[in-house]
Amino acid sequence: MKAETKIISRLWTTDAREKHLPITINPPVYRGSTVLFDNFEDMVLAGKGQYAGPTYGTDRFPVQRCMEEAMRELEGGFITRIFPSGISAIQNFFYAFSKSGDHILIVDNAYGPGVRFCKKILSKFNIETTFVPSSVAEDIEKYIRPDTVLILLESPGSNTFEIQDIPAVAAIARKHGIITALDNTWATPLYLNPFTLGVDISIQAVSKYISGYSDVLMGAVTVNERYGHILDTYYSTTETYTPDNDCYLALRGMKTLPTRLRQHEQSALQVAAWLEKHGNVDTVIHPALPSHPEHHLWQRDFSGSSGLFAFTLKKDYSMEELGLFIDKLNQFDLGYSWGGYKSLLTAAKQRRNSPSRFAGKTIIRLSIGLEGVEDLILDLEQGLEMLP
Ligand SMILES: Cc1ncc(COP(=O)(O)O)c(C=O)c1O
Repeated sequence: MKAETKIISRLWTTDAREKHLPITINPPVYRGSTVLFDNFEDMVLAGKGQYAGPTYGTDRFPVQRCMEEAMRELEGGFITRIFPSGISAIQNFFYAFSKSGDHILIVDNAYGPGVRFCKKILSKFNIETTFVPSSVAEDIEKYIRPDTVLILLESPGSNTFEIQDIPAVAAIARKHGIITALDNTWATPLYLNPFTLGVDISIQAVSKYISGYSDVLMGAVTVNERYGHILDTYYSTTETYTPDNDCYLALRGMKTLPTRLRQHEQSALQVAAWLEKHGNVDTVIHPALPSHPEHHLWQRDFSGSSGLFAFTLKKDYSMEELGLFIDKLNQFDLGYSWGGYKSLLTAAKQRRNSPSRFAGKTIIRLSIGLEGVEDLILDLEQGLEMLP
């Protein structure tokens, strides 16, 4: 069955039919702290942890459960838990799977606030972080210590797009009994399946492509069977939950993910090909282009590319000069996040902990939206003419 059919055909109707509730195509949203039990016996069962449904407002209402099940199925994992943002998913993943005295490894192109969390917060709990090169492969082994417990990959990185050799890292990690996790936001589970590559935990910033409309903050952590119990226990013990309204929007957005992603992919490839021929452009950084240094890994492991990529310019323009180009754009708005229907742009100099092919370079990152691609190209053309 095609991914789009699978995603659309999975509805909440089984539950509704069993309970004789009105059946709408999308599940109903609940608001509440207290959940009422039919009788005392049910309350006693809830107290023993043996009641089947939600027992309290923090106990994952139906839309959250549907969203988690849809994500789990898409990722091909064992269980999924939803968090109130992508960064919250990353932070809680660290809390759930590491403890005081542990050592963790993170790729140097990982999402900045996640890196900051390790440096500023995990260090307070005596958890030490080492950053490994963004295109790490078997050489991960030289960073492993007896106290290393987990490795967080992000492939490609969401600013500089280096790709890691995921199966090579996962195989070495498994040999040492270390957990491998991957921030899979760029590819989504549609274009990369982390579990078939040996990864144990997949993290998604649902805020991007999965929800798709830039109106939800959400993250998801999906684990394989080996780590299901740890995630489930952590989640229910911390009484983390995500409001039903957000789960509703994310689940609704997910129904159109395959169709949207295909368009993001095609438009981004067209814009990237056009930029590669532009006289002012130095490098177009897009894993699906043969010019990308790890293109062979992308070809081997991924089944598609999304709409986020970057480029650098030949001259080292000042921020004022760059502003002449960027502020001239009509179709690319300036804002953080990506993966929505609206095209966005960010530009910043790269700072790294380890040597990088982009050290000191200004990376101009485009999130290609669902506008007409001809209009996006015309817009970039007239904007780039403003550069001195
Ligand atoms: C790769 C990646 N992971 C995680 C996040 C965090 O997601 P959120 O914005 O929902 O906190 C982002 C946000 O930009 C991201 O780019």
